[in-house]
Amino acid sequence: MPTAVSLFSGCGGSDAGVIAAGFDVIMANDVLAYAHDVYLANFPETDYRVGDVQTIANFPAAELLVGCYPCQGFSQGGARIANRKINTLYLEFARALNLIQPKAFIAENVSGLRRSTYRHLLEDQLKQFSEAGRHGYDVHWMQLNAHEFGVAQERKRLVIVGIRKDFNIPFVFPGPTHGPLTDTPYFTIANALDGLPDWPEGEFCDDPFHWYYLSRNRRRDWSEVSKTIVSHMRHMPLHPISPSLLRINTDKWVFESEAPARRFSYREAARLQGFMPAYTSHGGDMIFPESITGAKADFSHNMLRHKYRVIGNAVPPPLFHAVAGALPNIWD
Ligand SMILES: C[S@@+](CC[C@H](N)C(=O)[O-])C[C@H]1O[C@@H](n2cnc3c(N)ncnc32)[C@H](O)[C@@H]1O
Repeated sequence: MPTAVSLFSGCGGSDAGVIAAGFDVIMANDVLAYAHDVYLANFPETDYRVGDVQTIANFPAAELLVGCYPCQGFSQGGARIANRKINTLYLEFARALNLIQPKAFIAENVSGLRRSTYRHLLEDQLKQFSEAGRHGYDVHWMQLNAHEFGVAQERKRLVIVGIRKDFNIPFVFPGPTHGPLTDTPYFTIANALDGLPDWPEGEFCDDPFHWYYLSRNRRRDWSEVSKTIVSHMRHMPLHPISPSLLRINTDKWVFESEAPARRFSYREAARLQGFMPAYTSHGGDMIFPESITGAKADFSHNMLRHKYRVIGNAVPPPLFHAVAGALPNIWD
């Protein structure tokens, strides 16, 4: 089984995909303790180190390096400041690439990187990665949308793949597996949430729907794919059990009836991110521990926020399953 090292691993979305594609993820890292807890509850075999990646001096040898450095500086929901320090964490990925010199790597980032304001960051990533190690890498990138790979959610992400130059093998991104270009229809909200209860009390954010929330349409029907799952629980899209929203002004929407409305729960968000039971090592739905390792105070009233956050940050496993599965067989 080829080995992989994962950085910015979160609760394991990217790694679940890589594991499904046949890799053994031998080391993972994230700064968030709760991401570590969720990861190990579902993928217990990995050596998961909690802490700032900048404090990790050495990495184990591996054939694949995976990393989804954070994107707060230029994501749609973030503060879009192109020179924030968090935007340069890709240099840590480049450092690991130089040290490990794996046969291939997969990195992921938000699609906003393609825009002109942030383009210099993308160009620098491509440069750093292509020059890494003794041989350098042939680097390819493409924007992929998760719903074209069997995920019940629209989620555009930029995926960067590199293959060590000495292999001299081109990489071809996988084509859609779902949707009109294929024989398989999109995986819908109804498909993803099959078997889950309609009103899972205590598992969804029931904060009021403030004006900002109602400044756009937050609802999709059962037969559609979901809007993008975000990490901030107050911004989570509406469950289709909620009444429709009607537009009454440029940026003002109202519920068409007074029937109860709610956001997706964190468990539903996990399914809509593609964490279907087949992607965990125990073959069930994602397990979410009820406490955080090392947390001094009782954070239980905040657990909902932590659960939503790690799930909203994740890469859909089926997306990385498809990308890792498209790598050429260079592992023997
Ligand atoms: C886009 S998320 C990655 C999600 C993950 N790959 C998954 O699929 O679940 C980025 C992650 O980087 C982590 N992170 C941010 N700064 C970090 C740092 N300095 N060292 C390690 N991890 C960091 C965040 O906590 C977050 O979990």
